[in-house]
Amino acid sequence: MPKFVYGFTEGNRDLKDLLGGKGANLAEMTNLGLPVPPGFTITTEACRHYLTAGAFPSGLEDEIDQHLRDLEHAMGRSLGQSDDPLLVSVRSGAKFSMPGMMETVLNIGLNDESVQGLAKQAGGNDRFAWDSYRRLIQMFGKTVLGIDGEHFEEALDELKAECGAKGDLDLTAADFRTLVGTFKDIVREQTGQEFPSDPREQMRLAVLAVFHSWNAPRAVLYRRQERIPADLGTAVNIVAMVFGNLGMESGTGVAFTRDPGSGQQGVYGDYLQNAQGEDVVAGIRNTMPLQELERIDKASYDELMQIMEKLENHYRDLCDIEFTIERGKLWMLQTRVGKRTAAAAFRIATQLVDQGLINLDEAVTRVSGDQLAQLMFPRFDKATDATLITKGMNASPGAAVGRAVFSSDRAEELAARGEAVILVRRETNPDDLGGMIAARGVLTSRGGKTSHAAVVARGMGKTCVCGAEELEVSTKERRFTAPGGVVVEEGDVISIDGSSGAVYLGEVPVVPSPVVEYFEGEGDLDDELVRAVHRLMVHADASRRLAVRANADNAEDAARARRFGAEGIGLCRTEHMFLGDRRQLVEDLILATGDEEREAALSKLEPLQRADYAEIFEAMDGLPVTIRLIDPPLHEFLPDLTELSVKVALAGDAATAKDRTLLECVKRLHEQNPMLGLRGVRLGLVVPGLFAMQVRAIAEAARARAEAGGDARAEIMIPLVGAVQELELVREEAEGILAEIGVDALIGTMIEVPRAALTAGQIAEAAQFFSFGTNDLTQMTWGFSRDDVEASFFSQYLDLGIFGVSPFESLDRDGVGRLVRIAVEEGRKTRPDLKLGICGEHGGDPESVHFCHEAGLDYVSCSPFRIPVARLEAGRAALTSDGSDTR
Ligand SMILES: Nc1ncnc2c1ncn2[C@@H]1O[C@H](COP(=O)(O)OP(=O)(O)OP(=O)(O)O)[C@@H](O)[C@H]1O
Ligand SMILES: [Mg+2]
Repeated sequence: MPKFVYGFTEGNRDLKDLLGGKGANLAEMTNLGLPVPPGFTITTEACRHYLTAGAFPSGLEDEIDQHLRDLEHAMGRSLGQSDDPLLVSVRSGAKFSMPGMMETVLNIGLNDESVQGLAKQAGGNDRFAWDSYRRLIQMFGKTVLGIDGEHFEEALDELKAECGAKGDLDLTAADFRTLVGTFKDIVREQTGQEFPSDPREQMRLAVLAVFHSWNAPRAVLYRRQERIPADLGTAVNIVAMVFGNLGMESGTGVAFTRDPGSGQQGVYGDYLQNAQGEDVVAGIRNTMPLQELERIDKASYDELMQIMEKLENHYRDLCDIEFTIERGKLWMLQTRVGKRTAAAAFRIATQLVDQGLINLDEAVTRVSGDQLAQLMFPRFDKATDATLITKGMNASPGAAVGRAVFSSDRAEELAARGEAVILVRRETNPDDLGGMIAARGVLTSRGGKTSHAAVVARGMGKTCVCGAEELEVSTKERRFTAPGGVVVEEGDVISIDGSSGAVYLGEVPVVPSPVVEYFEGEGDLDDELVRAVHRLMVHADASRRLAVRANADNAEDAARARRFGAEGIGLCRTEHMFLGDRRQLVEDLILATGDEEREAALSKLEPLQRADYAEIFEAMDGLPVTIRLIDPPLHEFLPDLTELSVKVALAGDAATAKDRTLLECVKRLHEQNPMLGLRGVRLGLVVPGLFAMQVRAIAEAARARAEAGGDARAEIMIPLVGAVQELELVREEAEGILAEIGVDALIGTMIEVPRAALTAGQIAEAAQFFSFGTNDLTQMTWGFSRDDVEASFFSQYLDLGIFGVSPFESLDRDGVGRLVRIAVEEGRKTRPDLKLGICGEHGGDPESVHFCHEAGLDYVSCSPFRIPVARLEAGRAALTSDGSDTR
């Protein structure tokens, strides 16, 4: 029979799966010889059994009784003993900390008799005893009996009003005694039953309540958001009570072994005299800084400092702790490795290396790409006196300043004149895209973190505050009204902070991120944070196996990517090169009626393309440049069908012949679902000369580079291939052109159609490299189009827990990942030296980078700003044994 209960001397910190974080660490502290009140832990296994079977596993009650007897023996009194009661707390504690998500009940063991005994043992301190008793009924009523806490709080407030008491400290023993009576009445009214006076029964019910709390709606929701598996269950800790509410020489507090905000070493914490634990956490009363404890109780303070040092050296990391002082005696009630800000994470990791507590390998695994990304956003200068007018949701980080505008058109208009603008809308829709691109930031009054504005802004890396519900936005009158009657008209300057959700009136000065300045090569290595980032990046680079390339379409992006550490370009999209004033040439190509007209159009495009490539080859000289031949459907280069139809219809007989032909053509090329239509390699095969023109431009640019003494390493990538035959046809033509011009280039393909992944063995016959286009591969594997689903029902899917995170943000290992693995294996079987990379946005997502490492790819490619993140995560993937832990 498995063991369901562990005494604190039996466990240790490695048993978190079984004992939960709190129980494992209480055991660890006990074994370190720290002053922990005795107690025991009921395992998560017992909880899992209870939740599936609906009853305690057999033997559990006996084990609990046995451990309770041991505890009573150690304390020299029994649970609820009427003349000298042992009291206990019953505390939840899962493997991962779920702050405030589950339940804890203090002072179990009190009833009408033992409350007298408690008072006597506390030297006649009636007030303390009755206060403890009313706390028990209150907490027990709320968490075990499911009574709305407001009933108790109202009763407490009423009593305070009657006695003219300002705070709890003004209430007397008699007042608390009255309150106990009132609270018992509430229990009777709300549940139809008496408050249970049998101590052992109180304990049993509290344990059950903790088990049940695992499935409380808020716990379920929290787990989904944090991606904590739903079937872990929680442990239950039974701990002998110690009392911080015995008078002014008692108290309770929380502390960190160093500042979780900055990483600075020192004394950080809060202390509250004459209080029980939950008073600090609930923030009911004002706490004092921990330093003041030194003045109040030097001995306890010194002991606490020693313990904190011991804990930090033992855990080799920042710890947070909960403690209580009972009449000058210090007790440790909890510790765990503490959460911290991004800047603190980097500083602490390197400080611990300097202290000799961890090595650099471990230091790299202690920071994350997400934290690095947070350090790369520009920030508002803290020393500002601008007026905060409201707060919304922090949807997409960054700091943006500009003139408020209320329509997409106006945003584009002003931006074209070089004005910085913030687009303010009630909510955005796909028609606002132009305005969002033109604006420095986006502010909406409706919608959450998965609203259109939020999703699109994050995708573009644009600052966004959404759901600022206090704002009344009037698009018609071009103004919004904020609380307090502040009115912002079109043209007024506002500042929005996408990291905090704050909205300010006027211009708040923006400071660039020192970390970005470092990556740009202008970093200040005297800055502790910059130095920490530098050291960890150097070590991550030395450790990683994956190369990191950039998605870049022009020389400027390529140059920045290179400064940020890119080792080549993994995706150069050529369609952007067909927009702007070149659109006309593309239109001519599409409208061409014969070979002659088509060739004329192509020959005008070719020199332009050649110049594009030449610049990029120069910026990436000596490094591989993967160029994807044109991919999107042609109608994207033509006028909008509806607009053009209206134009021709309105003009009637006066419509020009050109417009009429254009309309016919647009109608012909219109597609119901353009994502799956005539695009990619299909286009290359159907429009003669188009791919050939691009290959020729690439080859000539590469040759010119070589003639100028440079080193261009072109890799020509064919998009949307589903069958090897498609690739072979394009490849044959391309090889001919390369040979004619006398240039070497690799020829490969994107793997983005599921069929390509499944027939990778065949496709590798004709491809020298694969690049996984995981955006399209995700769309086609799941069968949904990103533009349609993200804004319409993804938030529901996330709420329903169908996925914890959008598969467009983080690669879906089980489905899309499986296709990738198949393609890797079969591709390499055919061609052992096949180069493998990924060029979807996933290439810059931490989880996905770890997947790429595990799947054995050669490189990841991502947008220039994500390159440091990918470098760091690639290092972490190589340094963590299973490569998968990004927590
Ligand atoms: N035996 C005890 N004696 C005195 N105080 C206790 C005892 N057990 C718990 N407390 C205090 O009661 C408060 C609530 O307990 P607990 O730590 O279980 O939950 P929490 O802090 O609200 O949540 P978390 O699970 O995140 O730690 C804490 O301040 C804790 O220090
Ligand atoms: Mg706690």
